[in-house]
Amino acid sequence: MTWIVWNEDLTGGVDSIDTQHRELVDLMNAVYDSACAGEVASTVRLFDDLLKHTVAHFRHEESLFIGTAYPEAEKHRRHHDLLTAKAIEYRDCAAAGDFTALTAEVLPRLRDFLVFHIQKDDKETCAFLNAIGIA
Ligand SMILES: [Fe+2]
Ligand SMILES: [Fe+2]
Repeated sequence: MTWIVWNEDLTGGVDSIDTQHRELVDLMNAVYDSACAGEVASTVRLFDDLLKHTVAHFRHEESLFIGTAYPEAEKHRRHHDLLTAKAIEYRDCAAAGDFTALTAEVLPRLRDFLVFHIQKDDKETCAFLNAIGIA
């Protein structure tokens, strides 16, 4: 069964952002499946991939702030920094091999942070971008 199911609630209406969010959800699901199977090396590798894609995605959104003078840019950027710090902390937990904590607490917490960010900050940003003609 798919851990995080993509749905309309996760769609913001800016294609490049939505595509990257789908990739992040796919990667989160891959990390979760690998952790459930107890595969240490592939879990850490997938988590590193998730981190890399997450950071690249945040830079992409932030490049749109700069180009559009988005008024909430500073707050949004701060939330990206917090999420990145959390993801790095959780990646180290995966590397430590505590898969019980990883599947029961750590990954669900990361999922909640990510989903909340997509549904709140990113949706607000997408609405702003839509309003100035970016979709
Ligand atoms: Fe995002
Ligand atoms: Fe964001």
